[in-house]
Amino acid sequence: MKKIVLAYSGGLDTSCIIPWLKDNYEGSSIIAFCALLGESEDKNELKKRAKEAGADKFYFVDMRKEFVNDYVFPALRVGAKYEDTYLLATALARPLIGKYLVDIAHENKAEAIAHGCTGKGNDQVRFELAVGALDDSLEIIAPLREWEFKSRKAELEYLDENGLTLADTGGGKYSIDRNLWGISVECGELEDPWVSPPEDSYVIVTPAEDTPDESKELVIEFKDGNPVSIDGKKYNGVELIEKLNIIGGKYGVGRTDMVENRVVGIKSREIYEAPAGEILFEALRGLESLVLDKEYIHNKRKLAKEYGRLTYEGKWFSPLREGVQQYCDATSKYLTGEVRIKLYKGSATVTGRRSPYSLYTEELATYTEKDSFTHESAKGFIDLWGLPLRVMGKRDKKT
Ligand code: ARG
Repeated sequence: MKKIVLAYSGGLDTSCIIPWLKDNYEGSSIIAFCALLGESEDKNELKKRAKEAGADKFYFVDMRKEFVNDYVFPALRVGAKYEDTYLLATALARPLIGKYLVDIAHENKAEAIAHGCTGKGNDQVRFELAVGALDDSLEIIAPLREWEFKSRKAELEYLDENGLTLADTGGGKYSIDRNLWGISVECGELEDPWVSPPEDSYVIVTPAEDTPDESKELVIEFKDGNPVSIDGKKYNGVELIEKLNIIGGKYGVGRTDMVENRVVGIKSREIYEAPAGEILFEALRGLESLVLDKEYIHNKRKLAKEYGRLTYEGKWFSPLREGVQQYCDATSKYLTGEVRIKLYKGSATVTGRRSPYSLYTEELATYTEKDSFTHESAKGFIDLWGLPLRVMGKRDKKT
């Protein structure tokens, strides 16, 4: 008898996968696993549905804390985005789900894992790379890449034939993936990259036109690169993100609209909402500018791009991603201090920063009588710094 652990969401596809696996893998036993990552989920309802669909066992794991501490905050400390825009909410959740799929497979001596991702998306890549990196012996089953159903209607009919009724919610206008760190919205009208995101595609961020006319300032405190308090009040990571999502959302912060390059080569249009992520990303950059030296910051930015790409492309469990993490974390102890950030009609702007590790030296920067900079040294410095340019200028006679 084959035991299969399924990444189950309770939606139409994964509900259909349960009887489909039973039909196609005779005598199989299905362990449905549902991850709580910050979306609102009804555990009992999901369990009931999974069992009705034929699941033999059901797991519901609250992974929010682990998600924040081991995936979200590490990526924040690096300053990772994909293609300069996407804060990677969906992409960061996948390796964690993959890790649990493997752990649950081991716990139950299962031989295979299954997921409900399509053959066109990034998530199949992420799940399968994560599972492969952690246990290459597990078989991977991706029903959506092989089954015969061509539409939601066909899937509903199949459920019906199996004596299962799932209320047809129509699947909604959009495909939405949601967790604490952000919301990814695609499909429907958004498939035309020229169409402005319709009002109803906003989930938690208020359109800038409807936000308060007054701005709001927040003071965010960081310790070792992780945010720990807002306006002097301490929060754990999960609470802090939840809180900033609400405040940021109210001020219209954290909405992006992009055409991105998927792993499989397709361009797709997706809109994202990540109010907490955007505020924290900007705030941490504000702190970095004060405490890290120029060369380190410049290099960190390049590596952050690489880290964002690796995460997006499913290579979370790779030596390069882990190495970049170590490079960035080598200075995270200096990322301790406070940042003041102003939220106003969709923007989050740093308006102040301070830290016990500040490299900012007022006597050097000031234009007042307090100035202690050695002005005479600048001449010799510029002579040498510009020497090659002068030599080339003479050769090329540019004027
Ligand atoms: N494009 C994003 C990514 O690859 C999100 C994918 C899921 N999006 C969705 N609306 N279901 O990480």
